[in-house]
Amino acid sequence: MAEPIVEVSGLVKHYPLTRGVVFGRQVGAVRAVDGVDFRLGRGETLGIVGESGCGKSTVARMLVHLERPTAGTIRYRGEDVTRLSGRALKAVRRNIQMVFQDPYTSLNPRMTVGDIVGEPYDIHPEAAPRGDRRRRVRELLEVVGLNPEHVNRYPHQFSGGQRQRIGIARGLALRPEVIVADEPVSALDVSVQAQVVNLMDRLQQEFGLAYVFIAHDLSIVRHLSDRVAVMYLGRIVETGTDTEIYDHPTHPYTQALLSAVPVPDPRARERRGRIILSGDVPSPADVPSGCRFRTRCWKARERCAVEVPALAVPEGLRAAGGPAAHASACHFAQTVSAGGPAPGRAAPPQEHRGASA
Ligand SMILES: Nc1ncnc2c1ncn2[C@@H]1O[C@H](COP(=O)(O)OP(=O)(O)OP(=O)(O)O)[C@@H](O)[C@H]1O
Ligand code: SF4
Ligand SMILES: [Mg+2]
Repeated sequence: MAEPIVEVSGLVKHYPLTRGVVFGRQVGAVRAVDGVDFRLGRGETLGIVGESGCGKSTVARMLVHLERPTAGTIRYRGEDVTRLSGRALKAVRRNIQMVFQDPYTSLNPRMTVGDIVGEPYDIHPEAAPRGDRRRRVRELLEVVGLNPEHVNRYPHQFSGGQRQRIGIARGLALRPEVIVADEPVSALDVSVQAQVVNLMDRLQQEFGLAYVFIAHDLSIVRHLSDRVAVMYLGRIVETGTDTEIYDHPTHPYTQALLSAVPVPDPRARERRGRIILSGDVPSPADVPSGCRFRTRCWKARERCAVEVPALAVPEGLRAAGGPAAHASACHFAQTVSAGGPAPGRAAPPQEHRGASA
């Protein structure tokens, strides 16, 4: 892996659940993020995927300091930024910028594009001399493929894809080293998604950016990601290179997610089988004991209810080596061919329903 620029360790975010208007007693907590570790190398892309509510955006907000963690550390260039405040924090924030999901609501409709893209210079005036800002804004628009002549237009005069380009231009204004992109293309038409992903790819090459790219759709993440982390209910359940995760998944949850990704070749589709998970994701205010995926896992056994599986390379897979030997938080991690859905069988046995909802 490239030299780490961001290192996240034991990251936790719990939102207290209170009861009573006067005293507001704490009766529990929403464990939105519940012990997350990862490293982001300089210039690389880490994809974070998982179903709605698994904690992706909460991780993103903590990375860009929109929220403080309940516990854990976020190191940027070796320094724990969760302890910083004032000027030191501001200096770090400059280097880690965010691109938001919804280009329709994340841009102020009453500001011109020029003011939106140049806004970071108001917050960090040291980044650009006042007289130079207009020129910089025009250059940023050009870099993201927009017409610099449109600097005085308003967001509603642009299409969804163009608006996301405006959001990206704003994210680039301070020349950050890291961009956290939270579902940057999920609100866009499929035809436009690829254009924005390609733009992000090009910008990464051009400016050596590191990305944390968040999506609930695995197929979008693959194009950009060097490594992928799969989240479930506040934790990372499997992580590895894109080849390890996409071609050799060993965690049942990843296997289920991947089986839902459309494959154009019908024979490949048949070979792969489809795993349909039953039941909903449990509430993060009431997570299952042991493995938190066990209520939906077709492989769950007694051990899964009592022992939390660590995110590590499973012993059996480590010995065999190869791409299946990557971190997977499952007591019975196996590749699909070794123990997943039976390939090429008739439809009903290919549907593995979870133990209970
Ligand atoms: N401010 C908050 N107070 C209480 N609970 C919260 C708060 N913010 C998020 N949550 C809860 O934390 C969990 C994780 O939310 P988060 O938005 O991080 O998920 P996500 O993976 O980004 O989902 P999506 O794919 O829908 O964007 C959810 O159950 C959510 O309801
Ligand atoms: S630890 Fe058990 S319940 Fe969890 S994913 Fe593995 S087999 Fe399923
Ligand atoms: Mg989200």
